[in-house]
Amino acid sequence: MIKIAPSILSADFSRLGEELAEIKTAGADYVHFDVMDGIFVPNISFGIPVLKSLRKCSDMFMDVHLMIDRPVRYVKAFCGAGADLVNVHVESDTQENLLLALETIRALGKKTAVTLKPGTPASAAEPYLPLVDMVLIMTVEPGFGGQSFMHDQLDKIRQIRRRMDEINPGCDLEVDGGITPETAPLALEAGANVLVAGSAVFGKPDRKAAVAALRVEI
Ligand code: DX5
Ligand code: ZN
Repeated sequence: MIKIAPSILSADFSRLGEELAEIKTAGADYVHFDVMDGIFVPNISFGIPVLKSLRKCSDMFMDVHLMIDRPVRYVKAFCGAGADLVNVHVESDTQENLLLALETIRALGKKTAVTLKPGTPASAAEPYLPLVDMVLIMTVEPGFGGQSFMHDQLDKIRQIRRRMDEINPGCDLEVDGGITPETAPLALEAGANVLVAGSAVFGKPDRKAAVAALRVEI
């Protein structure tokens, strides 16, 4: 089943609670929460206190995408603040520390995911594939919303889907960056089943229509 995860990076931060209520009514499945530290990516967004506040006013599934250096230092805090799933980049630390981060998230009863930047090969996900609930393939360089979908990532999505089918068939495959009603079918055809969309949802006045436009049949 396709899941739609609007990224609140493109929401109106002065009324985040209402924005979440709107996407819930619109039929979104997850809230995608983009955390940026200004080191791992060249931008700074929001973090633990904002997640904690949103958790109090929303029961939606919080998909936390950590674009931060050495996330093992913070995964416990994000779980405590209300994350349902915590996503760490494979480029953000050593394999040993990333495995520790994933174990910590799982021990706290939350779901786990690893993310690959556009320049990172599918093989980099290999050590984590049996251990995660989801893999996220970035289809833009992480750091900013509103960029164009990188078509050269489609092959990587296919490769990861093939490996997942072999070793972890229940695993979700999420794509993030430049997802629109035009690019969503390409990602789905390649094997993704969770679509992150920032500007394609929060940039549209009618959120219900925006979410529906992404839930395309392939
Ligand atoms: C980029 C973020 C994305 C971003 C997507 O670093 O990870 O989640 O918000 O925005 P759009 O859908 O506008 O490309
Ligand atoms: Zn993201």
